[in-house]
Amino acid sequence: MRILVTGGAGYIGSVVTEELLNDGHQVVVYDNLVKGHRAAVVPGAQFVHADLADGESLRNTLKQEKVEAVIHMAAYSLVGESSVNPAKYYQNNVVTGLVLLDAMLDSGVKKLVFSSTAATYGEPRQQPIDESAPTSPTNPYGETKLAFERALNWYDSAHGFRFASLRYFNAAGATIKCGEDHDPESHLIPIALQVARGTRESVEIFGDDYPTPDGTCVRDYIHVVDLARAHILALGELGEGSQIFNLGCGGDGYSVRQVIDTVQEVTGKNILTRIGARRAGDPSTLIASSEKIKAKLGWQPKYQDLRLIVESAWKWTLAHPDGYGE
Ligand code: UFG
Repeated sequence: MRILVTGGAGYIGSVVTEELLNDGHQVVVYDNLVKGHRAAVVPGAQFVHADLADGESLRNTLKQEKVEAVIHMAAYSLVGESSVNPAKYYQNNVVTGLVLLDAMLDSGVKKLVFSSTAATYGEPRQQPIDESAPTSPTNPYGETKLAFERALNWYDSAHGFRFASLRYFNAAGATIKCGEDHDPESHLIPIALQVARGTRESVEIFGDDYPTPDGTCVRDYIHVVDLARAHILALGELGEGSQIFNLGCGGDGYSVRQVIDTVQEVTGKNILTRIGARRAGDPSTLIASSEKIKAKLGWQPKYQDLRLIVESAWKWTLAHPDGYGE
């Protein structure tokens, strides 16, 4: 298939591109490089350096490249930032997303896989969280992702648009070539690895008084390759109708302290921590039920063990001490 990957120069987008190319698909990466990196565009993919808000450029790309389906990953994704600057999130994640949908309609492309998030659920009442759980986002990031999912539903009923929305839990890990390089970094595993490398002094644990076994937040970490494989399975089943799927490894999840202990074991370094205040908008526990995607698409995570996830991220960090070097 000929696939357009928006945000394909980003962390998850680069790995999705890698997996698509491995499977013999043709990929056009469409990215404005505001968050992504030129060096993260996987060789073998075509690259269009342009903005999603530019409908003209999108229409040209979709038509000229004879794109058959889109994987839409370009978005802003920082919960904290979204809470202080909601307009930025509505503009990029909703308004600009609609420019993409309209360009797709104009070009006769009606298949889309969308990067959504567990943040659509807000503070869940039950764990693990399945797709029937109420959606009640606690921040504009989750709200804008949910708004776009709803728009997709209406495009489906109005125009026969077919989509799969993948609600990611905590993406982590790396491949040999592609890893996580954010500026500023806000995610727990890369932050702990910075401490292991000596480029950061300590990890601040955002609260140790949560109602969890060790008092720190529990999350469901999923290897980025397992996440990427789910996109490819979803793409193959779009003809069957639009769907929403949760994506995590399930089980008991891992607390912040367990993640830090694992980073210590994998790197052999002492990770200095200090206890800070709770971070606004952090639910205490988020664990996915991924039974639906397992049953419907036959998806199975290969890297359920947190150690494997951290090992892959550590290898990438050692091989890329300056990230993508930009
Ligand atoms: N944490 C710390 N210290 C840090 C960074 C994180 O204690 O320096 C804690 C957080 O409070 C949280 C856990 O580590 O409990 C994981 O935090 P991340 O920032 O790595 O990930 P989040 O769970 O906040 O966010 C991820 C995605 C979001 C998505 C969310 C949905 O990055 O895009 O999952 O569950 F919205």
